[in-house]
Amino acid sequence: MLGDVAVPLRRSEADFSRPLALEEVIVRTKPRTVINCAAWTAVDAAEESPQDCHHVNADAVFHIAKACNEIEATLVQVSTDYVFGGDPERVDPYTETDTPCPANRYGVTKLAGEKAAATAKQHLITRTCGLYSPSKGGPVRGKNFADTMLVLSRTRNDLRVVNDQLCTPSFVPHVANGILDLLGIEARGIYHVVNNGFTSWHSFASELFGQAGKDLRPKGIPTDDYPTVAPRPRFSVLSTKKFATSTGHHLPHWKKGISAYIEMMQAASTQKERFA
Ligand SMILES: NC(=O)c1ccc[n+]([C@@H]2O[C@H](COP(=O)([O-])OP(=O)(O)OC[C@H]3O[C@@H](n4cnc5c(N)ncnc54)[C@H](OP(=O)(O)O)[C@@H]3O)[C@@H](O)[C@H]2O)c1
Repeated sequence: MLGDVAVPLRRSEADFSRPLALEEVIVRTKPRTVINCAAWTAVDAAEESPQDCHHVNADAVFHIAKACNEIEATLVQVSTDYVFGGDPERVDPYTETDTPCPANRYGVTKLAGEKAAATAKQHLITRTCGLYSPSKGGPVRGKNFADTMLVLSRTRNDLRVVNDQLCTPSFVPHVANGILDLLGIEARGIYHVVNNGFTSWHSFASELFGQAGKDLRPKGIPTDDYPTVAPRPRFSVLSTKKFATSTGHHLPHWKKGISAYIEMMQAASTQKERFA
């Protein structure tokens, strides 16, 4: 998406467990903007190893912010709807000014990461949700929710999906464009960047199967029937009013995110056939 303008850094070049080397590589590379997409994202494992998760999601971000200050770069910190979700009564989308209330330890570390990012003089914190995009070579189970559903649909016709967790699963290229839009208008502070509208995982899966032409109707189940180590937010819908007011547009509706995901997957498989 950014082509030659961006310098991607792999874990071998930017290891978050070596904060001084991390600072050094940023200062040496001297970018105008640092976009931190890296994180400890194993939500359940974070309950067992909260300290290790905190090192990656918060301590390392503090060092990135320090390096950004040294070279006067802007820090973009990718954050999450999981900084919310701890309020069981909530029914209105969370705004950027609402007090965070994480429901699990991963959310606590990401919130600490936001505070670390805010020590950068110029910072943009973008909270997003339920990211998915096609994996290289076709859907891979465990890579993201959409991929996992498509993989399971090949062998199962008895899928059960939770129907009482509401949020906005978002298509990665749409979110990436949204972040670039915000950078284009030099937005600073916290912004919610998700597809428009909201849904449950069950209705997301049903829409995905419908659009993918699969004759499969997953059964909706309550969260209590699908226990996880880390509690998941029942409601973590993010308001995107601030994004829309600032940029003049909303990101596409979540159903359009699914359409774009399927189109991208089909284009990749046609290309693979063409070059086979
Ligand atoms: N996935 C979601 O649904 C979701 C929702 C809301 C927000 N987010 C946020 O969006 C961002 C991207 O999420 P994602 O799902 O794309 O994550 P992901 O697939 O788990 O990728 C995380 C990246 O972080 C890197 N990383 C992890 N530990 C590292 C370390 N110690 N040192 C250096 N690099 C390290 C990984 O490197 P390796 O490839 O070497 O392992 C990987 O490239 C994260 O900030 C996440 O919190 C994600």
